[in-house]
Amino acid sequence: MDIEILPLAEKKSRIENESELVFGKQFTDRMFVMEYDAGRGWHSARIQPYAPFSLDPAALVLHYAQEIFEGLKAFRRRDESIALFRPEENIKRFNRSARRMCMPEVDEAFFLRALKELIRLEADWVPRSEGTSLYIRPTMIATEPVLGVKPSSRYLCYIILSPVGAYYKGGLSPVKIWVSDEYVRVSPGGTGEAKTGGNYAASLYASTVASRHGCDQVLWLDAVHRRYVEEVGSMNICFVLDGKIITSPLKGTILDGITRRSILALAGEMGYEIEERALAIDEIFEGAESGRLEEAFGTGTAVVVSPVGQFTYRDRTVSLGDGRPGPLTLRLYETLTGIQYGRIPDPHGWVEPI
Ligand code: COI
Repeated sequence: MDIEILPLAEKKSRIENESELVFGKQFTDRMFVMEYDAGRGWHSARIQPYAPFSLDPAALVLHYAQEIFEGLKAFRRRDESIALFRPEENIKRFNRSARRMCMPEVDEAFFLRALKELIRLEADWVPRSEGTSLYIRPTMIATEPVLGVKPSSRYLCYIILSPVGAYYKGGLSPVKIWVSDEYVRVSPGGTGEAKTGGNYAASLYASTVASRHGCDQVLWLDAVHRRYVEEVGSMNICFVLDGKIITSPLKGTILDGITRRSILALAGEMGYEIEERALAIDEIFEGAESGRLEEAFGTGTAVVVSPVGQFTYRDRTVSLGDGRPGPLTLRLYETLTGIQYGRIPDPHGWVEPI
């Protein structure tokens, strides 16, 4: 399929001060769009000026949340080139989410070409300052106007771009986590592994409770026992316990994070033993109190690697570290971002030049 490039009449004003970039509030001049109709497949692929869509109020996405999305980043490297990080993995996950949500898949090679073409046109928007990048948000929504609960026969797929700084205001400052045992994110057999908006909408109420407790994020426990760690609001989570890295296994209820996988690979190469196993919340509290729990950190495209400084569970709070990121958290952050920004070699071939 060809991609039509539509003219851009007017450019937006640029980022004035990159050090003030926040997460996801500013968008570039153009976006990629394509449409799907049952019986015709994907069509009308184009790169057009960034603009609001006109959507029928009965569109299925607005009623039953048939929607998926992805998040990946483009990095400005030292030599001014631009690189993506493992984009094929995001596109594969987009298609896995599509299958789970009864939505049409995209052609992986075509989608990567579209994404690269869009970034080439928007290259000026890829920021240069430390810790900044261009966040890429592929999205698919169900657009058929009908109130019956069924998979849509029409879809819109688009990619928007946002120059971003750190996800959390404090950058690499350790975050405070509130452990939820009253509310759950998903149940086994649910949509936990799909990157679909409904999972995030369902998390909002618990997030407001977390912030009432002075915390930044929610740590979800499993829905069956309300005991085993699953993931945090916008990231997977790893624990450094007894010198090993422990994280929840991929069993359908947590997101198969690409940053998670990359960090586990890097930590393994650094000589750490990795255990993907059920980890009970009591084990975390005992570990923190006895000093066996050395560090905890979240991983995700948006957050990269985010140190955790405190957990609150029921009426107990435990702190980790001295208010600064732990040494392994920092080392993993430096190694991953070093590969992404081209400061260190990329032996895995994770970086894809544009
Ligand atoms: C990402 O890390 O890219 C995500 O999609 C998390 C998001 C909800 C900010």
